[in-house]
Amino acid sequence: MLSNPFSLEGKTVLITGASSGIGRATAIECAKIGAHCVITGRNQERLQQTFDQLKGQGHVQIITDLASQEGIQTLAEQVPQLDGLVNNAGINLMKPISFIKEDDLEKIYTTNTFAPILLTKFLLKKKKLNAGASIVFISSSAAMGSGIGNAVYGTSKAAVMSFSKYCARELAPKIRSNSIHPGMVETELIQGREFSDADMEADRQKYLLKRYGKPEEIAYAVIYLLSDASAWITGHALVIDGGRCV
Ligand SMILES: NC(=O)c1ccc[n+]([C@@H]2O[C@H](COP(=O)([O-])OP(=O)(O)OC[C@H]3O[C@@H](n4cnc5c(N)ncnc54)[C@H](OP(=O)(O)O)[C@@H]3O)[C@@H](O)[C@H]2O)c1
Repeated sequence: MLSNPFSLEGKTVLITGASSGIGRATAIECAKIGAHCVITGRNQERLQQTFDQLKGQGHVQIITDLASQEGIQTLAEQVPQLDGLVNNAGINLMKPISFIKEDDLEKIYTTNTFAPILLTKFLLKKKKLNAGASIVFISSSAAMGSGIGNAVYGTSKAAVMSFSKYCARELAPKIRSNSIHPGMVETELIQGREFSDADMEADRQKYLLKRYGKPEEIAYAVIYLLSDASAWITGHALVIDGGRCV
């Protein structure tokens, strides 16, 4: 029988922020295609809801607050040997530059920037990433351009894009590293912002494909970057934005 290079059969993958949105979809789709998933989040009930939707056996769930360095270190100790790491957990902030406070920087950078860097570092120190492993960072299209009120979030994600490239350089040829840069995706992250439904709809129309993304449309790209199908891709920053930035 021909082997499928897109399969994650036999691979163990750690996915952060799997209790919601893109992380949840990634865990569900990775499990469907054969991965053993190690999923993390803070909210036990919602993480369990993801866990219950994972096909197959051998999945693990671990509650972790990635805003705590101790939490990250403990997570790195608890996880099994990994073939894939999806640094996905993240939070959002919309604030004009003149209103930015130091606390805002600390809060957003702690979760969006320091956590993926430190988790990667501790996993490497503990030799938890197998030879041939693939790291995927969920950054944002905000890392590549600019938008009013998005400076803190965008810069936190630009650092992640840069760190991914440094990982690609330092960890080659044994470990690959790539970042994904979604445009707006329909998840909780973009709800509750101070935009009317009409504003959101007008924004959707700026996308060539006339809609925001679905979480699974990011998950499919994560699967590609985790799989052997992308074995010659490292240090890449992949924009997935329905043609918004063309
Ligand atoms: N949605 C978009 O339009 C969009 C666009 C570009 C990039 N992204 C990026 O995609 C990633 C996923 O976002 P999403 O849209 O799926 O958001 P979401 O639905 O709000 O999910 C965010 C996830 O991150 C976890 N998380 C947040 N802070 C955490 C912490 N301190 N410790 C552990 N886990 C934490 C949450 O866990 P708990 O709920 O359990 O705390 C949740 O599982 C983020 O990095 C985001 O910046 C999203």
